[in-house]
Amino acid sequence: MKTVRDYIRTIPDFPEKGVMFRDVTTLFGNARGFRMAVDQLLHPYAGLRFDKVVALDARGFILGGAVAHQLSAGFVPIRKKGKLPFATLEEEYQLEYGQAVVEIHEDAIEPGEKVLLVDDLLATGGTAAAGIRLIERLGGEIIGCAFIIDLPDLGGRARLEELGMSVHALCS
Ligand code: PRP
Ligand code: ADE
Repeated sequence: MKTVRDYIRTIPDFPEKGVMFRDVTTLFGNARGFRMAVDQLLHPYAGLRFDKVVALDARGFILGGAVAHQLSAGFVPIRKKGKLPFATLEEEYQLEYGQAVVEIHEDAIEPGEKVLLVDDLLATGGTAAAGIRLIERLGGEIIGCAFIIDLPDLGGRARLEELGMSVHALCS
């Protein structure tokens, strides 16, 4: 029987030489694979109540919407700078390749709300750490950070755990 890992395609040297790009479109594009990924992502949180699922631009949104629906929680996007129309908070971060700024609407999370942070992939952890800072600046309580793929050599899990986060990933 195929596992989540089996549905992920690897493209060498994308978007630049030396990067092994883990392509989740093949996972999301398969009905069984997508359902399996969402179900397994939620497995550790069975019985817990979440107010908000927060997901990271852009691949995280595909997953985050499905996860929020399954949890009957609200969905909050963290977007790359310049896309959100209302007042925002912003945080800068480094990527495996490049640098960026992400934003969240300043009223997207109420203080004390329970949050699940979701993204497709954890590499250096820079994106997720920026997301964590935004959620915490708004007073959200992060119950967990869930990813389909963890690239352990890039140190993201260790970085998030140092921030006190509970990290769940389906494959590495
Ligand atoms: C990818 C991925 C994560 C991030 C992980 O997003 O979806 O959000 O990189 O890298 P990190 O742990 O080193 O920060 P990307 O910024 O490429 O954007 P995309 O989802 O719009 O493709
Ligand atoms: N984001 C950062 N590193 C990545 C990788 N190796 N594959 C897919 N997305 C990524």
